[in-house]
Amino acid sequence: MSLARVHNFAISLDGFGTGEPQSRDEPFGHAGERLHEWMFATRFWHETTRQPGGSSGLDDAFARQYKPGVGAEIMGAGKFGPPGWHEDPEWKGWWGPNPPFHTPTFILTHHPRPSIEMDGGTTFHFLDTSPAKALETAREAADGQDVRIGGGATVIRDFLAAGLIDHMHVAVVPVLLGRGVRLWDGLEGLEKDYEVEANSSPSGVTHVTFTRVGL
Ligand SMILES: NC(=O)c1ccc[n+]([C@@H]2O[C@H](COP(=O)([O-])OP(=O)(O)OC[C@H]3O[C@@H](n4cnc5c(N)ncnc54)[C@H](OP(=O)(O)O)[C@@H]3O)[C@@H](O)[C@H]2O)c1
Repeated sequence: MSLARVHNFAISLDGFGTGEPQSRDEPFGHAGERLHEWMFATRFWHETTRQPGGSSGLDDAFARQYKPGVGAEIMGAGKFGPPGWHEDPEWKGWWGPNPPFHTPTFILTHHPRPSIEMDGGTTFHFLDTSPAKALETAREAADGQDVRIGGGATVIRDFLAAGLIDHMHVAVVPVLLGRGVRLWDGLEGLEKDYEVEANSSPSGVTHVTFTRVGL
């Protein structure tokens, strides 16, 4: 069975998945890198970015669940680029010629454009459709493997609201952002559909996992 999975989605203590305003210079707005410092310190991240070293504790164990068994990703227009990226015909995402996805990658946007084939197995496809239809399309492309729902907060919230997420790892980072895009709005009672576990890391991050009941 092909699952819809979220990994390494970082939120502040007050529930924001990004700060504001988002821009080309500051993709996470006033949050800067604060939501992801825990991940940048891990061996997983060092391997991904081809640097030596990195920590090998709990944060690393969670972070590296991101890759195995994933055959496609879905993300929102807000993760793919800064506001207005669709007006730039040359925009190909933040990640350079060889993005870290290495699978078909579907961008939900009201401004679709032709697919872009990148190095390393990533092809960006642009979809203007519902979360359920996007998941159906991504599942076909994933060829039996799982589909990662990559964010941002708006897209994950929409997939949760539609009951489409099977497994989710949220990293709760001990910072208070006060403003930005919230993950949890409108999801009252969500926990009833999931087995929820929390693990505290010495870094101060709490890793919370939601696994669909009966999975
Ligand atoms: N905290 C983390 O771990 C993490 C992870 C990934 C990204 N981020 C950050 O999160 C931010 C982006 O999140 P976000 O919540 O602002 O935006 P987002 O979830 O990436 O994208 C939302 C946008 O996608 C398009 N869209 C969504 N659903 C659609 C549908 N069904 N059909 C057509 N278009 C659809 C719409 O844009 P249009 O109408 O403009 O097309 C919508 O405004 C960025 O700052 C990014 O850096 C954080």
